[in-house]
Amino acid sequence: MNRYAFLILPSHNRVYADAAPTLARAELAVLSAALPDGRIEAESVAETAIGGVPYVTFAASELSQRDVGLLANLSSLYALFEAAGPAGAGAGGLAGELLRPVPLRRLDRFDDDLLTILKYPGKTNEQFTKLLLNVTLASSAFARELETRRLSVLDPLCGRGTTLNQAVMYGFDAFGADIDARDVEAYAVFVQRWLKDKRLKHQADFSPVRRDRKVVARRLTAEFAATKDEYKAGDVQRLEVVEADTTRIGEFFRPASADLVVADLPYGVQHGSHGTGRAGGGERAGDGARTLARSPLDLLRAAAPAWVKALRPGGALGISWNTRVARREDAAGALAAAGLEVLDSAPYRAFRHRVDQAITRDILIARKPAS
Ligand SMILES: C[S@@+](CC[C@H](N)C(=O)[O-])C[C@H]1O[C@@H](n2cnc3c(N)ncnc32)[C@H](O)[C@@H]1O
Repeated sequence: MNRYAFLILPSHNRVYADAAPTLARAELAVLSAALPDGRIEAESVAETAIGGVPYVTFAASELSQRDVGLLANLSSLYALFEAAGPAGAGAGGLAGELLRPVPLRRLDRFDDDLLTILKYPGKTNEQFTKLLLNVTLASSAFARELETRRLSVLDPLCGRGTTLNQAVMYGFDAFGADIDARDVEAYAVFVQRWLKDKRLKHQADFSPVRRDRKVVARRLTAEFAATKDEYKAGDVQRLEVVEADTTRIGEFFRPASADLVVADLPYGVQHGSHGTGRAGGGERAGDGARTLARSPLDLLRAAAPAWVKALRPGGALGISWNTRVARREDAAGALAAAGLEVLDSAPYRAFRHRVDQAITRDILIARKPAS
């Protein structure tokens, strides 16, 4: 067994920073099951202060390059170290030891301003979004296909695209839907600008979708590649976002076309003094009464069948939501009723954390049976 320690990424959001070490342990526990070669000892994962700074420490059979390649993408991992000597006492057995940095190669294909440029009320925390995507991926049958094919992610409540951007960052295809016209338009403007500014070879279009001469939605479509050669060879990433009610995604996305479905549900709370807040936003967002005709749980019940249809067998769905407005058992019940197998072992129950006085966030992961 070798011993490792990872340094937690400093977070700009103080509330999230408080929860980060606990979330990091839970994320590591779920990801360890998806490691291609090595194994992490579940009981060894601990939060440890070394030199007064919080680390997550763990013991593992010697990690292969491929294992490290997966762990490098942990949402709160800043730097990974391997203990250079025999087990010591205290601080996770790492006290007073030399820590050797492990070289990391993240999946990231683009500059990280893709994730950070857009700032708006209701944006889901970027680090948390990455965690939700990682945990969903690790729980699907496809984590080991990362190196061999392009995966696809659908966010059926995509807002201004935090999940989609993280999926694009990983080199995946990304599909989304949101009912809020302002969100979809702002995202379409952002994506087209960003592709141009980065001088990436691309095609992009934002236009109405017509059926029987009636406009039924507006849709952003984009194809692009990280390099000119990839673009020339047709090795492109696809991004597609429709402005539509999420229960209608079957009209726009083929059945079984997404490897993963990842969504941050409306929080069901009204923030601030303006009754016209955004439709069901994330942290510090307002749930405008206009589009929050349904409670988050009713929305989940109504939309889950369409989401499951869009998911490939063997794929996984990950949602986050405010437990103050919907109980975990009820949200899990909605997913099970739609034909998913909800994952509920100990690591999956360790993601609950406080966002503010009105929001305690949790996540649920469920799998679509292989066939
Ligand atoms: C918590 S926010 C997601 C924020 C997003 N992750 C981001 O960072 O921009 C929930 C989203 O659900 C959308 N929404 C609420 N009800 C919807 C519905 N029936 N159909 C589609 N989108 C809906 C809202 O417009 C909002 O953008």
